[in-house]
Amino acid sequence: MAHISDLIATDIDHYLKLHENKSLLRFITCGSVDDGKSTLIGRLLYESKMLYEDQLAALKADSKKVGTRGDELDFALLLDGLAAEREQGITIDVAYRFFSTDKRKFIVADTPGHEQYTRNMITGASTADLAIILIDARKGMLIQTRRHSYLVSLIGIRKVVVAVNKMDLVDYSQDVFAAIEKEYREFATKIGLTDVTVLPISGVKGDNIIEQGPNTSWYHGPTLMHLLEHVEIDELRLQTQPFRLPVQWVNRPNLDFRGFTGTISSGSIQPGQRIRVQPSGREGTVARIVTADGDLDLAVANQAITLTLTDEVDVSRGDVISISDYPAEVADQFEATVVWMSDQPMLRGRNYLMKIGAKTVTATVAPIKYKVNVNTLEQVAANRLELNEIGVIELDLDRAIAFDHYENNRDTGGFILIDRISNSTVGAGMLRFALRRAHNVHWQALDVNKQAHASIKGQKPCVLWFTGLSGAGKSTIANLVEKILFSQGRHTYLLDGDNVRHGLNKDLGFTDEARVENIRRVSEVAKLMVDAGLIVVTAFISPFRTERQSARALLDDGEFFEVHIDTPISVAEERDPKGLYKKARSGQLANFTGIDSPYEGPEAPEIYIDTTRMTPQAAAELIVAVLREKGKLE
Ligand code: ADX
Repeated sequence: MAHISDLIATDIDHYLKLHENKSLLRFITCGSVDDGKSTLIGRLLYESKMLYEDQLAALKADSKKVGTRGDELDFALLLDGLAAEREQGITIDVAYRFFSTDKRKFIVADTPGHEQYTRNMITGASTADLAIILIDARKGMLIQTRRHSYLVSLIGIRKVVVAVNKMDLVDYSQDVFAAIEKEYREFATKIGLTDVTVLPISGVKGDNIIEQGPNTSWYHGPTLMHLLEHVEIDELRLQTQPFRLPVQWVNRPNLDFRGFTGTISSGSIQPGQRIRVQPSGREGTVARIVTADGDLDLAVANQAITLTLTDEVDVSRGDVISISDYPAEVADQFEATVVWMSDQPMLRGRNYLMKIGAKTVTATVAPIKYKVNVNTLEQVAANRLELNEIGVIELDLDRAIAFDHYENNRDTGGFILIDRISNSTVGAGMLRFALRRAHNVHWQALDVNKQAHASIKGQKPCVLWFTGLSGAGKSTIANLVEKILFSQGRHTYLLDGDNVRHGLNKDLGFTDEARVENIRRVSEVAKLMVDAGLIVVTAFISPFRTERQSARALLDDGEFFEVHIDTPISVAEERDPKGLYKKARSGQLANFTGIDSPYEGPEAPEIYIDTTRMTPQAAAELIVAVLREKGKLE
């Protein structure tokens, strides 16, 4: 292969042309340093005499000249991904390495093996076609072998190569190898891995990596490199799946042209074929397939295209264009598997932004059915998922989406969850199936609507959402506000924490999960009351920004007023109207806000009340004055 380096040196253009047409295999290596993972990767790089990072930089710079797209794009994506994660403060220890042989190009994601790096492994694995799982021949299958294999199957990697390494240290014993192979195959079947190759290697001595060698004459399978060079890549399989185009944007340079742009995630398309726009279900016919290099007669998975249709069909960014004979499914409730990637736990009842394909929706965590012990594969009951935990959960979306089962299509079946406040990626998930009740419950459109309810009362409904510590004065001020409004003939209702917790929410305590659920229910009730035309005042600690944000998101713009009743904890504690601070300090009351449970103050409340500078009556009058100023009390 020496001629490749010569070629790079002497005729880079020619080299790049050759290179451009080679297929690309992405794979992941799992195992720990002790298993000989670094040695193996080092050997693959060495044997392929390949591009090291500095050469790659030169290659990238040069490739611009001749317009190769392949590597440019892949690396741009990878680097973007990593940079984005770094900005979000997640250090993902995944080393991506690039090498190539005469037959193929490779990207290998080298991920750390310990349990605390589960999310790193998932990140590295999410685009891989194949996984190499290393086993030390002296140790045999370990707990981590099982964990890695389970994660590999979860993330949808179909091809697994089990490299039984350090065969030289067990005298190349066929018996040792056969025992490991048998045990692994039994386990693989249980977790649904079907395409498994087991091979004996020595990373240090080189046996069965590039060449067979004399030491394992009893082994008649392929070498590792042969496998890597010949295995079918997923890209080809995807081309045989039904056509899906997640629409990244709608192009309308002039009135005569309206195109829908994106990268085909599976299948192929030709002009004249019938398509269905999802989730709306509208149908049309493909007129043209437009690309930067001119129109195409046929486009396939992974190509970036712009489609135009013969008919005027309404298509928005985030829609999926499917072949009409084999459309995607459409639903708004799912069972999904989620890998949690944030230090802040996933809480039942909390909602997150969900990005699937080119679409972003709001997803609420309905019951967490169970979490999985990744070492034993046991299912464990849970109300939350901590960093690196994997759970099977139900998700309720605010809108229906088009999707495929993850195992058929990672693009239209895989998603990430994003925290609404910090905007960082907190989880990755795979849609398992739609819940049937999603099909059976329909929103009932009512004739006597919000507008009608409001106008008969002669008012503009809204919510005054009070937040602050226990003992801050929320209930006192809220009560005064309601009295003033009531005396002005307004139709109001006060939802107060202590009262609601006696009825609707009497099943809830004060853990983070319980508070999330408390506020979720109250938000929904407040929304219904706004629908009924009322001016609603709520007085709950509501300690988490995310849930206050969710409450706001349920209402229309201008209907939600966040009112921060700000009292320093020392003052609230001194007042201690219910004697609860004393109890909390003496250890008789756990999870008390401000003591051993957090309070996240608002960053930009519509109304701010400093109770150390204002009487409750003055505060109430100020709040009513703001409502009047904002046009709610005409
Ligand atoms: S929230 O955090 O879920 O919004 P909520 O406003 O409903 O709380 O209830 C708070 C009230 O419950 C407090 O005013 C106090 O009277 C009472 N309470 C009892 N235990 C706790 C606790 N551990 N933390 C805070 N408040 C508590």
